[in-house]
Amino acid sequence: MSICIVNIAPGDLLSIESQLERRSWAFVDGVLSKGALDALRAEAFVDFRAGAFAPARIGKGIEKQRIQELRSDCVRWLDRSGATQAQLAYWQLMDQLRERLRVFFRVHLERAELHFAVYPKGSFYAPHVDQFRAQGDRIFSVITYLNPDWKPGDGGELRIHHLDSSFEDLSPLHGRLVCFRSDEILHEVLPALEQRVSVTGWIRRDAFIL
Ligand code: OGA
Ligand code: MN
Repeated sequence: MSICIVNIAPGDLLSIESQLERRSWAFVDGVLSKGALDALRAEAFVDFRAGAFAPARIGKGIEKQRIQELRSDCVRWLDRSGATQAQLAYWQLMDQLRERLRVFFRVHLERAELHFAVYPKGSFYAPHVDQFRAQGDRIFSVITYLNPDWKPGDGGELRIHHLDSSFEDLSPLHGRLVCFRSDEILHEVLPALEQRVSVTGWIRRDAFIL
């Protein structure tokens, strides 16, 4: 089956830049086509059922450990070389976003990394910042949700914490993209009462995985 590829609209890129400039986080709805979103979700589930996901880990190197009290999602890293058509569309979306943010913020942004994430019922991710303390390689976090039937009451909101301890909650709706400064934005995932799927990535300034 061939999927119509609509990655991200120019107006969405403009909106993301201006939201990021104003408050260091941004969201837009309706990225990709419904066909591509549905295909990504289906592909995540095929891999999930095949046991290709691993419990997510926190930290890096010898500090890397599974801390169940902090997060309980499972992830599967994606490789561009083995990408399906829908995954390729998402890699292209990340390229478009990276290029725009590179020019707009005048920063070096070398590449993106991506994984699927599945939060089984009851899973969450406690408040955290994405950039590893010792390294500044993750510059922007980018998450697109793949949940066509998400309803109010299903939980799983992304909670963005502000410095004045107020917060904003975003439901993980199909085709909603969230982008924020990896070094700045404290955020968490509230317990998901239904299985919650996303494709999560980081736009990085380094060339290679260390
Ligand atoms: C993460 C994360 C948020 C979300 O993977 O680091 O914070 O809404 N995800 O899935
Ligand atoms: Mn995070």
